[in-house]
Amino acid sequence: MSVTVVVPTYNEGPNVAELVRRLAAVLPDGGDVLFVDDSTDDTPAIMADVARTAPMPVRVIHRTEPVGGLSGAVVEGLRAAEASGSQWSVVMDGDLQHPPELVPMLLRRGDDADADVVVASRYTGAGDAGGLDGWRRKAVSKASGLLARSMFPLKLRNVTDPMTGFFAVRAGRVDLDSLQPRGFKILLEVLARTKLAVVEEPFVFGERFAGESKASFANGVRYVQQLWALRFGRLSPFAVIGAIGALLNLAILAGLQRAGMHYLPAVIASNAVTIVTNFLLQERFVFRDLRDGNVWRRFAQSFTFNGTEAAVRTLLLWWIVEKTVLHPELVQALLIVVAFLVRFVFHAQVVYKPHRAAAPQAASAPDGDAPFSSTAQGRVQ
Ligand code: GDD
Ligand code: MN
Repeated sequence: MSVTVVVPTYNEGPNVAELVRRLAAVLPDGGDVLFVDDSTDDTPAIMADVARTAPMPVRVIHRTEPVGGLSGAVVEGLRAAEASGSQWSVVMDGDLQHPPELVPMLLRRGDDADADVVVASRYTGAGDAGGLDGWRRKAVSKASGLLARSMFPLKLRNVTDPMTGFFAVRAGRVDLDSLQPRGFKILLEVLARTKLAVVEEPFVFGERFAGESKASFANGVRYVQQLWALRFGRLSPFAVIGAIGALLNLAILAGLQRAGMHYLPAVIASNAVTIVTNFLLQERFVFRDLRDGNVWRRFAQSFTFNGTEAAVRTLLLWWIVEKTVLHPELVQALLIVVAFLVRFVFHAQVVYKPHRAAAPQAASAPDGDAPFSSTAQGRVQ
């Protein structure tokens, strides 16, 4: 079987020899390594040395004018791997946080399941995010993964770790020209733009062999830009309906008060009405293809959650305003944004949770994750 291991690198000199040594020990005949290197130090010279003595082919693309950062490097590597005729490409980091010994397992799993993509996941089975520095990065990784899965519930239905940098791709299945690589999250870009048959394999994210992480706050900003370019999947129509509901809520509140009702029952009545209208609009326009089983079950879950959320939010508002010097308006605005995201994730992950496909199912899966018809560019869906 022919496989190219695509390794994006930025100043990873001290890791190169060890990575190649461990890969050479496990790769099938016909395997090679392709570094896509944006280094500004002596890494290219080290790679040239290692390539001379390695027991398998080692290729290097050194980019003097890098575009798209880590993701851009990965796409360039995938393109070169396909051009050289490899049946599979495996993308992995160059710092040994991704165990090279897992590569043959990814390939076997992909062939057995006849999948297009095999994702090495930290969040399934015996997988673990151990080597991710600090609880903050772990929390960010988890939360951003959950949000992404809520935005693309069908395309990511089999994917517990859309943020991983370790995955295998079968040649010819991903439309590389459709990708808009930026930042660190290339797998999300691949999976959100193309309908693919995906399976997962658990793995333990290890410690770096040498050097330190190149992730930065700027990568977080680029992640948001990327979601923007992907049009936030289902989050966008969910937000539009939420905004319509908020306006409706205010209108009913004003109307009832003008009709002489006390503001307290008026608030409760307008909330109840908009919780119901929001539910109906979301059933129709956001989660239409994910409606499953009993509408009353979904309604009960949605109504209970939204009612509880409104009550909890009011209590939190009171508590934060009493305990801190923050302005009530500011606190309320922040709470509304957070509550909106939590409400979205709850609806995608609980009320409308798609069943995990037992086998890869891209071909038979509904078109997916595009509640509103796609735009003229038609890129995303
Ligand atoms: N060519 C290129 N260009 N490579 C880069 C660049 C770049 O601009 N920036 C980083 N890399 C390389 C690094 O040299 C390393 O081989 C790999 O990309 C991952 O970078 P790290 O700096 O080690 O990232 P990390 O360990 O903090 O993050 C990893 O885990 C994340 C999930 O939590 C990566 O695998 C991410 O892709 C992943 O999302
Ligand atoms: Mn790393």
